[in-house]
Amino acid sequence: MKITKDIHYVGVDDKDIRLFEGQYKTDDGMCYNSYVITDEKIAVTDTVDMPFFDSWIENIKSVIGNKSPDYLIINHMEPDHSSNIYRFAKLYKDTVLVANEKAFMMCKQFFDDDFKDRRIVVKDGDSLFLGRHTLNFIFAPMVHWPEAMVTYDTADKVLFSADAFGRFGVYGSKLPWIDEARRYYIGIVGKFGKPVSNLLSKLSGKEINIICPLHGNVLTDNLSYYIDLYVKWSGYIPEEKGILIAYNSIYKNTEQAVFYLKEKLSGLKVETVNLATSDKAQAVALAFKYNTTVFAAPSYNGGVFPYMRDFILSLAERNFGGRNIAFIQNGSWAPSATKTMKELLDSCKNLQFAENEVTIMSALNQESKGQLDNLCLELIKLTNQEEKQ
Ligand code: FEO
Repeated sequence: MKITKDIHYVGVDDKDIRLFEGQYKTDDGMCYNSYVITDEKIAVTDTVDMPFFDSWIENIKSVIGNKSPDYLIINHMEPDHSSNIYRFAKLYKDTVLVANEKAFMMCKQFFDDDFKDRRIVVKDGDSLFLGRHTLNFIFAPMVHWPEAMVTYDTADKVLFSADAFGRFGVYGSKLPWIDEARRYYIGIVGKFGKPVSNLLSKLSGKEINIICPLHGNVLTDNLSYYIDLYVKWSGYIPEEKGILIAYNSIYKNTEQAVFYLKEKLSGLKVETVNLATSDKAQAVALAFKYNTTVFAAPSYNGGVFPYMRDFILSLAERNFGGRNIAFIQNGSWAPSATKTMKELLDSCKNLQFAENEVTIMSALNQESKGQLDNLCLELIKLTNQEEKQ
């Protein structure tokens, strides 16, 4: 597949993978993207996951035939992109490997070889000349590993963006880009908002016509849409006004309260997620999508129900903050859920806590319905107010 006259897609699909990184559901598989730039010199950017060596090499050969690539550009050392470096280097013995010092250090760790006799060690801002194309290397530490960098082609204004702007799914997946990109970004890179912002700042002066990520489709149109989303995600800014009600329920009494509240909030955009039966990464991503989250859970072992604990920890470790928060707890003798949920959110910054807290003693009754009614009124106000950053 041609991206431009000289830039070709040579990536592969993993249609069978169901858990990316051993934890993220990939019902529509995953792709590992690699590209070939044909010029006076030939460059390949990144490799693919280990099992796909043969089909990847076949794709490369379909572009360059029996020629040998002059360079292999290594933007990122996570094994889904790097695990075939060694085999590639064995096959193409004259190819020079181009990466930064940290990446070569990781090559030594992964392959017991840092390719000292056939490498170019680049620094932030260095360039490599292929002929018509000049590749400019821009370091992107912690997007998503410390050695990560992106490569900008000054000729065709193409950004090889490493993990940035990726998503779950095979190449050309029909799943909505935004949902799978959000789940991917928040899950995998969400903790590293500042480094992503730094990268966006570094790129802000560059004219970019095409984004070639390491996962997901090549982005060619309306790039400001994708970049604006990355500005929001990296800045922990909600995408829209709306409410996620994340809940657990043991005997459906808490769930009944959740549905009662959702019905009362019918004028607002509200999504409910049962944390015990839903994809956790999707629930986490939705909490970052909206400006308000309601946590509803039973008390358990003197704390909170385990799925809720895990959910909140996942939010906190991704720097969840800058949002409205409310609590609904259930408990039959000593409700402890809200206290525990607050403690778990303790490290999160700029949370606006609803004054109305709801306590259900075993089952919903007139009193707890009244609490939910009050919470509903407050949530409408909080959710509709302009964001304070
Ligand atoms: Fe797709 Fe951080 O690797």
